[in-house]
Amino acid sequence: MAVCVQDNRFDIVTKNTLYQIKADEYGVLCHLWYGARTDCHMDYLLDYPDVGFSGNPYDVGDKRTYSLDTLPLEYACEGTGDFRTPAISITHEDGSTALDLRFLEYRLTKGKYSIPGLPAVYADEKEAETLEIVLKDTASDVQVVLKYGVLEQADVITRSVVVTNKGESAVVIKKAHSLCMDIPYGDWDWVHFHGRHTMERQMECAPLIHGIQESGSGRGTSSHQQNPTVLLCEKDCTENAGFCIGAALMYSGGFQTQIEKDQLDQVRLVMGIHPKTFSWKLAAGENFYTPEVILSCSVEGTAKLSQRFHHVIRNHVCRGKYQFSERPVLINNWEATYFDFTEQKILDIAKQASELGIDMMVLDDGWFGKRESDTSGLGDWFVNDNKLVGGLQSLIGQINQMGMRFGIWVEPEAVSEDSELYRKHSEWVIRIPGRMPVRARYQLILDLSNPVVVDYLYDRISKILSENHIEYVKWDLNRSICDWYTDRLPQDRQMEMPHRYVLGLYELLERLTHDFPDVLFEGCSGGGGRYDAGMLYYCPQIWCSDDTDAHERTLIQYGTSFFYPTSTVGAHVSAVPNHQTGRDTSLKTRGIVAMAGSFGYELDLSTLNNEEKKEVAEQVKKYKEYQKLIYEGTYYRLSNPFEDGMAAWSWISKEEAQILVQGVVYRSASNTLRRRLRLTGLNEHASYKESESGRVFTGAALMSGGILLPRLTGDDAAFEITLIKWK
Ligand code: DGJ
Repeated sequence: MAVCVQDNRFDIVTKNTLYQIKADEYGVLCHLWYGARTDCHMDYLLDYPDVGFSGNPYDVGDKRTYSLDTLPLEYACEGTGDFRTPAISITHEDGSTALDLRFLEYRLTKGKYSIPGLPAVYADEKEAETLEIVLKDTASDVQVVLKYGVLEQADVITRSVVVTNKGESAVVIKKAHSLCMDIPYGDWDWVHFHGRHTMERQMECAPLIHGIQESGSGRGTSSHQQNPTVLLCEKDCTENAGFCIGAALMYSGGFQTQIEKDQLDQVRLVMGIHPKTFSWKLAAGENFYTPEVILSCSVEGTAKLSQRFHHVIRNHVCRGKYQFSERPVLINNWEATYFDFTEQKILDIAKQASELGIDMMVLDDGWFGKRESDTSGLGDWFVNDNKLVGGLQSLIGQINQMGMRFGIWVEPEAVSEDSELYRKHSEWVIRIPGRMPVRARYQLILDLSNPVVVDYLYDRISKILSENHIEYVKWDLNRSICDWYTDRLPQDRQMEMPHRYVLGLYELLERLTHDFPDVLFEGCSGGGGRYDAGMLYYCPQIWCSDDTDAHERTLIQYGTSFFYPTSTVGAHVSAVPNHQTGRDTSLKTRGIVAMAGSFGYELDLSTLNNEEKKEVAEQVKKYKEYQKLIYEGTYYRLSNPFEDGMAAWSWISKEEAQILVQGVVYRSASNTLRRRLRLTGLNEHASYKESESGRVFTGAALMSGGILLPRLTGDDAAFEITLIKWK
């Protein structure tokens, strides 16, 4: 049993961790512990200081040391004496906002709960258990169910919340976070992943200061600018030692992560839908379901924590035919042609690619409507017969005849004003009457909170997929969303729209992925602008960034690796000078960096000379040889590229039989010793043979002495070392 309950104390025990909470004598649900297994009641850590200006609930009488403002709480409310940031905030019919949630009952069931309309971690009855703790407001009929999905062997706990209005009048939810956790001990850094278009998920680590620190998105998508993931690391935590907690919100819309260090140096972490673009009117008898947070912790540093997230995302979030199977090596025409292509040009690219062993031709933006540039055509999902004279079927037929599979790009959520769809249904776009909408990349957004729009998009996309032999879809979205308004909702429900939009998107993706199970869906939002566990439920891979520069990609992929497995990272070799940065990197470097993901190409192969083509063919062959290891192996970051002047990573196969080490040294230097790279995750008593030199090392030597990298010349020089277990 992963969950043990005794005297209203709940021990959530996984293979290596313990999460402990208890409902105390007043029914207040206190957080006691999240960390290593201790086999102990951790309530001895609860302290009750007499702190001035931290008041006491009426029902504790004269106990002036009992304060909701100082206790570690499991789901913090507003307006009843806890002055820290709340997890939930509600306005009652009379306009008051107080809530005082106390324990009512609990339920334990086998298996993992699911969430209506939202993606969620899935697991069968042997793999998971669900704990539900029901809390009730002391004065109103608002109830809150805290759900815990426990994946014992995976060392993962999920959290989500259901808010229920059992009263007779409506309440308005202003904030209902999925996760709230108070940590009354430790000295912490927080790590989050910020960025911008073409530079996503830059890792940033900072000591917690008193007050609230926050990351989030109010852009309608999870965004390039912040990622819905966070780490709390104790000061001495490294890749391979020390304590850290990780949380990933499984949601693709606006989100908020808040961390508050309070007057007593205690830490509160809350995470959920961003209140800036959310409110929800909950009528009598209705439920509101929050998205879920995936939670894990490690006493063995951040590498182990990342591996747990990789495991749960790969095995319990991603779904479908391509969840485990090998993915096609693809060539995408975007950086090769942008909008300027003909059928012949695409066929030429495909022909050359097929000769080099590439499996799939992906036709990117520009194949539909009057899409000659990014000013027109979005929404018109029928073929542009100026460019593709024979139509899609003829193009796909010819590509299939070359032995290549075919994939296509779409951006269903957006519309150009210069399009037939907009001329016919301008009322489908998101805009506020009396205001001109914000245009971004010249485009507007279709209102996916409207079921009519979702049905229309389903019909259009499914028609294309059923009439053509399409085996891959790249699902893009190239702007942030604002101008929230719909005349389908009354004035006091307008801010339900951003969440309803996300629900509409999920419904559309669910229907399409269900009805076209053989199609590989790759998520994309101008690269990695919607790289989150929510999208990964529908798309097992996501185009990681519009920045294809190998140097910058090592930084982006480093940040991405903290939560997301390599199999989810769309990565391509592109042309030099790189189109985003102008940087030149060798074909070898570009190949090695793109291999740390779902591999492909994005350049005009006819510009390569014969030697380069040969190198491409070798890269494709090598990737296919290593794909299983890259997808299934245990991943280690071997350097911090922000500090070490190099990026290095490795995968170790399940049985430790095979090890692949790759990396890029950023700057060359004269008259230096060769660099030493320490490996991790090996068995110190085993021996490993390096394939190229044939030299045998012990695991202990490789992990403490390290391995000498080849003498590299030139900037951004890549290396690759393979080892096999010898004894
Ligand atoms: C943004 C994507 O990330 C690119 O790869 C490409 O598909 C363009 N959109 C096309 O408009």
